[in-house]
Amino acid sequence: MTALPAPEAKARAVRQMFDRIAPGYDRMNRLMTGRLDQHWRREQVRKLGIGPGDVVLDLATGTGDLAEIVLDTGARVVALDFSRGMLMAGRQRQGPGFPFVQGDGNRLPLADASVSAVVCGFALRNFTSIAAVLSELGRVVKPGGRIALIEVDRPANPLLRAGHGFYFNRVVPFVGGLLSDRQAYRYLPESAVYLPERDELVRMLVDAGFHRVQKQRLGMGAAQAIRAVRR
Ligand SMILES: C[S@@+](CC[C@H](N)C(=O)[O-])C[C@H]1O[C@@H](n2cnc3c(N)ncnc32)[C@H](O)[C@@H]1O
Repeated sequence: MTALPAPEAKARAVRQMFDRIAPGYDRMNRLMTGRLDQHWRREQVRKLGIGPGDVVLDLATGTGDLAEIVLDTGARVVALDFSRGMLMAGRQRQGPGFPFVQGDGNRLPLADASVSAVVCGFALRNFTSIAAVLSELGRVVKPGGRIALIEVDRPANPLLRAGHGFYFNRVVPFVGGLLSDRQAYRYLPESAVYLPERDELVRMLVDAGFHRVQKQRLGMGAAQAIRAVRR
C-alpha cells in the first residue's frame, strides 16, 4: 500500500503531515542522518558565499535550520513555510523575532528580483509542481543570484545503493513509526519518486532562468545539492 497522496490532494496532505510531525521533526532528522544534515546545510551556505549584504530566501524552512545558519553569516533572511505546525515548532526553538513567514512556494510573497540567494532543504519532492516553484524562484532571484537545493538521493554504487535502500525504505519508516508518525515516515522514502532525474531538473532550472547548474553528491550519494545561478 502506498503512503503517497493523490496528486490533487498533495499540498493539503503534505501540509497536514508536517503540522503533525513538527514537534519531533528536528530530533528525527538528526537521528536519521547521524547529524550529517546540519553539516550539509552549512556546507551549501558556505558554497553559495552567503554573507552580509545578501538577502536570502529559505524556501520551505521548516523549523528554520538553514535560515539560522544563514543569519549567522550576517545576511538577512526570509524563512518561509506553509505549515503552521512547523513554523510554531520553529518559533519555540528559535525564539521571538526570528524572520518566519507563512507562505506558499507556488506564490511567493516577494517582489521580482528581491533576493540575492535562495536555500531550500529537503522540500523539492513535497511540492505539487517543482517547475512552478522554480519559475517563482526565477522571478524573485535577481540576476547573478545563487540558489542551493538540498534533497535526498540514491547512491550510484550498487552495494551502497542496496544498503541505503534497506535503511531508507525499512529502518527509517520503522523508527519513524515508533518515535513519531508511521504514515509520515512511510511517505518520506516513497516521495522520492516525485524527484525528477538530473537532466529533467536541469531543464526545469534552465527554463526558469538559471544557468551554471551543478549537482554535488552528499553523504556518499544519500543526498544531493543542486546549485545554480540566475542569468
Ligand atoms: C522535509 S521538510 C524540510 C524543512 C527544512 N527545510 C529542513 O531543511 O529541514 C519540508 C518542508 O517543506 C514545506 N513545504 C512543502 N511544500 C511547501 C510549499 N508549497 N510552500 C511552502 N512550504 C512547503 C513543509 O511544510 C515542510 O516544512
